[in-house]
Amino acid sequence: MPSPDSQDEQVETVPVPATARRSPALSGSAAIPGDKSVSHRALIFGALSVGETRVTGLLEGEDVLGTAAAMRAFGADVERAGDNNDGGAWSIHGVGVGGLLEPEDVIDCGNAGTGVRLIMGMMATCPISATFTGDASLRRRPMGRILEPISLFGARSVGRAGGLLPLTLTGAHDPVPVEYRLPVPSAQVKSAVLLAGLNAPGETVVIEAEATRDHTERMLRAFGAEVSVEELPEGRAIRLVGQPDLAPQSVIVPRDPSSAAFPVAAALIVEGSEICIPNICLNPTRAGFYETLAEMGADIERENPREEGGEPVADLRVRHGALKGIEVPPDRAPSMIDEYPILACLAAFAEGDTVMRGIGELRVKESDRIAAMVAGLRANGVDVTEEEDAMTVHGRGGNVRGAGTVATHLDHRIAMSFLCLGLAAQNPVTIDDARPIATSFPGFMDLMAGLGAVITRASR
Ligand code: S3P
Repeated sequence: MPSPDSQDEQVETVPVPATARRSPALSGSAAIPGDKSVSHRALIFGALSVGETRVTGLLEGEDVLGTAAAMRAFGADVERAGDNNDGGAWSIHGVGVGGLLEPEDVIDCGNAGTGVRLIMGMMATCPISATFTGDASLRRRPMGRILEPISLFGARSVGRAGGLLPLTLTGAHDPVPVEYRLPVPSAQVKSAVLLAGLNAPGETVVIEAEATRDHTERMLRAFGAEVSVEELPEGRAIRLVGQPDLAPQSVIVPRDPSSAAFPVAAALIVEGSEICIPNICLNPTRAGFYETLAEMGADIERENPREEGGEPVADLRVRHGALKGIEVPPDRAPSMIDEYPILACLAAFAEGDTVMRGIGELRVKESDRIAAMVAGLRANGVDVTEEEDAMTVHGRGGNVRGAGTVATHLDHRIAMSFLCLGLAAQNPVTIDDARPIATSFPGFMDLMAGLGAVITRASR
């Protein structure tokens, strides 16, 4: 019988439901794939350097492979360079800042908001045009938040009403540098502005009131750009000197803390579990989920803390135990923005309420994640209070009914979150479609099975 992931290799054109069942204690070690944010950026900066950039540990999920294809369309040579122990080894021969070619066809970024927004930023100051589209989820997501700042550099766009994809972008012929205050705490917007600033003369400045993930700043410096960060009363001001010669690098991609969150959560709620998750990126701008878990009383040890590829990493040892509900500080949201779906599932197993405020950005992710979580939790016997930018999960101790079917709305994190919930609920939990998991976590089904989780995909 083919494994769940060998089924992934075939192109699936219809939804593939999957069911998670109450599982015996999870045990063993889980090799999480490379970080999605770092992987997109490694390909883009490689394409903007002249010479060969080597990447090890690249996430080979659909979102990142879409960015690799896009970099080829803009003129870079991007090749898989063989296997290594940490996942994908890739080689990129870039075209240099300002050297992008005009793509001959539409750029389809699939499900990837990060991919399309960073790439639009990258080309906004180059005198070429490109047309972008994506899947049904991406075509519903707001692009105005990128189009507005890149228009200040001189880029122009034509698209659907409301700044939706598909759209055609024409980069500025005579770009000017920009000073821009982020109206939303978004690393994608910050990164798009910095990428646009690369091919503008002079200094581009981005000011963010709340710190968002800083992989772009770290990688810009590693590739040789001049970037400074100043703490101002109104936030962090990031300054970039435009038109640098980026020098190719060897990039080691750390393992993704957002993907690790799923087996971590599963081990916390499945009785008797103890697992080890090596080499997880614990960059403070990404580690809010792990702080929150500590406050909930989770038994997680950070072993061997060290630095790898310019990012702080550690091995995580996770043991099952009782959790208590907490109020998550709203200013922590940017550092755990992708982890709220799995946190909401964990909170169902905690004693007491878990209150999550300041999470309005979840409404414009791969799905409206507040609505999707509320519906999925209610379908499985968990009470939730929903507000426009907040959600309170009324925890049930160890006692979650399950037995629901969850609509995943083309959202990988909704899919994985509810499969984890099903591993500890009293009755099986079914998701309507497991296909989106391949966007960020190829191998999820096999990895979870290796730990002892009981998840089956519908037979075809
Ligand atoms: C990302 C930033 C976040 C996050 C996304 C990846 C990035 O989006 O949700 O999964 O790599 O910059 P926002 O910046 O829009 O919050």
